[in-house]
Amino acid sequence: MASAPTTVTITGGGGQIGYALMFRIAAGDMLGPDRPVRLRLLEIPQGMKAAEGAALELQDCAFPLLQDVEVTDDPLTAFNSARIAMLVGARPRSAGMERADLLAANAGIFGPQGKAIGAVADDDVRVVVVGNPANTNALIAAASAAPHVPSERFSALTRLDHNRAVGQLAAALQVAAGDIDDVTIWGNHSASQFPDVTHASVREGVIDRMPVLEALAERLGGERQALAWLDDTFIPRVAKRGAEIIEVRGSSSVASAANAAIDHVRDEQLGTPGRAWTSAAVISRGEYGVPEGLVCSFPVRSDGTGLLGEGYQIVEGLDLDDRAQRLLAASVDELVAERDAVRALGVLG
Ligand code: NAD
Ligand code: LMR
Repeated sequence: MASAPTTVTITGGGGQIGYALMFRIAAGDMLGPDRPVRLRLLEIPQGMKAAEGAALELQDCAFPLLQDVEVTDDPLTAFNSARIAMLVGARPRSAGMERADLLAANAGIFGPQGKAIGAVADDDVRVVVVGNPANTNALIAAASAAPHVPSERFSALTRLDHNRAVGQLAAALQVAAGDIDDVTIWGNHSASQFPDVTHASVREGVIDRMPVLEALAERLGGERQALAWLDDTFIPRVAKRGAEIIEVRGSSSVASAANAAIDHVRDEQLGTPGRAWTSAAVISRGEYGVPEGLVCSFPVRSDGTGLLGEGYQIVEGLDLDDRAQRLLAASVDELVAERDAVRALGVLG
């Protein structure tokens, strides 16, 4: 017997990432081929036509799993009974806008949306924030949904950074992306992030694995060369990939961002495959010395019980050497500064 439909709310449903997301979700790429979905698209009045047009196209696809689509500019309608909320719509930085202005403008979006989620969403709602600055927007939404929704149910997207890191390593080692495991993105979804390969491994033959650092050393002519490549090429390339895409494409990443958001929700809901971990920004409870309450990217696993209330858990106990601790601390400092800036606005309660 088919399961009951899952309500998925996408904010910014008339925007680029929203458009790239909704057809794949309706096709079953996110929650699997057996789970019917009901889509709710939230927009602001200026974006309603684009979202309504997308809803017409969804109907024309006749997806067997898509139960219905509703387009609205009312957050209480959009989040009503939402089981998965994907917060994509955000205020972009415009010319002359300072970071503090950007944080304030987005607090005006993510505060009310968090409140609406707390008021009307499903008791077991899961929220992923995509709209930038994603970590701090997630912090604001979580604070605004309290005490109705536990803050652990909020996360921010760093899966795109994770996938970018895997893609760069696969190219450097000339292997398939699926052969690389246990890369970690630490910190903020920004240029300060720390893409870390300390614990990463690459498949060698059918069952054996080799540390990525060793494989890089073999390929690049020694450990010193491998470490130099990581510091001078890999880390800046991954951390600044968003800016590179904007420069080359003329606008920010869309299909890869939507793909990463689908990976994030799928792995949270259905479980991370095997023993490997992925990366997601979740609320810190002090793990790895990250101040409690920050939404920070960590290595995470899910046992696939998201439906029953667990979802992503931070992988604990990994050794971080001095260099790794320094790089993580630099990104955490930025998260602290963002948190302090929005706290000064009075939006964190
Ligand atoms: P876009 O401008 O094409 O679409 C954004 C949509 O959001 C617009 O249609 C707009 O009308 C809508 N919107 C604005 N305020 C809203 C509100 N209060 N409620 C509902 N909808 C609202 O932008 P895009 O390319 O889809 O990108 C969306 C966001 O995702 C941006 O902030 C971008 O920086 C971010 N992004 C994040 C990542 C990541 O990895 N975390 C990657 C790429 C892009
Ligand atoms: C990305 O990583 O591609 C985006 O977050 C870049 C941006 O500023 O929208």
